[in-house]
Amino acid sequence: MHPMLNTAIKAARKAGSYIVRASEDINSLTINTKRVNDFVSEVDVNSEQIIIETLKDAYPNHAFLGEETGLSHDAENLWIIDPLDGTTNFLHEFPQYCISIALLQKGEITQAVIFDPNRNDLFTASKGQGAFLNDRRIRVSKKRKLKESLIGTGLPFRDFKHLKTYLSMLEEVVLNTQGIRRPGSAALDLAYVAAGWLDGFWEIGLSKWDIAAGGLLIKEAGGIVSDFSAKDNWLESGNIVCSNSLIYENFIKLLQLHLTDDLRG
Ligand code: IPD
Ligand code: CA
Ligand code: CA
Repeated sequence: MHPMLNTAIKAARKAGSYIVRASEDINSLTINTKRVNDFVSEVDVNSEQIIIETLKDAYPNHAFLGEETGLSHDAENLWIIDPLDGTTNFLHEFPQYCISIALLQKGEITQAVIFDPNRNDLFTASKGQGAFLNDRRIRVSKKRKLKESLIGTGLPFRDFKHLKTYLSMLEEVVLNTQGIRRPGSAALDLAYVAAGWLDGFWEIGLSKWDIAAGGLLIKEAGGIVSDFSAKDNWLESGNIVCSNSLIYENFIKLLQLHLTDDLRG
C-alpha cells in the first residue's frame, strides 16, 4: 500500500473513533450556524484538527484544504479534507456520515480515503491501483439500463438558485430509473457508486472536499465522473455526474435536457 494512503487511513480512523465517541452525547455539543441550514459543530472542527495533525506529523511540508480551516498554503501536495461529511445527519443521529480525505498532486487526485465510522466501511484508492472496500476490490455496477438503475443525488438545502433546474432533472430521473436515494452524505454516495451499490449520482454545487476522494474511487472502480457538459471540470465546478460507463451516456443526456448555461462548466 502507498505510504501516503496508509497515513490518510490512520488519520481517518482516528477521526472516526473521535466522531463515534462524540455521537454518544450529541446534546452536549456546541453547534454554530454558518448560513441558513448550514451547521458546524465542535465535532467538525476537532475532527479536522485530528486529521491535519496526523497528516502533518508524517508530511510537515504538505498543504491542506479543509472545509473548516480553509487553505493552509500553496504546495505541490495538497490534502483535501471533509472532516465530517453529512453534518446534518450527524446532528440528527441519522447514521449516514463519513470522513473524506484526498491527496491532490500537481492537479491530479492520487490518493483517496472515505471512512464510514458507523459501519466501519473503509473505501480507499490510489491512482492506477484500483478501488477497495476494506481490502476487497470494488467495481462500479454492471447495470445496462437506466430503467433498472438506482440513482443517488443531493437536494439543494442552503442555496436555492438552481432549485428549479434541479427539480426538472429530478423529475426526469424519477420517470426514467428504478429509484432515487438521497442519503445526505455526498462523499459516501460517491463511494457507493464505486462499490456498485448505486448505479449513478448527480448533484449541483458541491465543494472540492465533498467530491475529491469519491471521484478517484469511482474512476479506479471503472466508472465515469464528469461535469454536466461531460467534461472534466467537476472538481472545480462542484457540478458532478457519475455512473458506470454503460448507463453514463443516457444518464447525462437526461440531465442535459434541463441544463442552464451557468451549469455547463
Ligand atoms: C453536505 C453533504 C450533503 C450534500 C451537501 C454537502 P456537509 O456536506 O455531503 O449530502 O448534499 O451538498 O454540503 O456540509 O455535511 O459536509
Ligand atoms: Ca461535505
Ligand atoms: Ca463537512
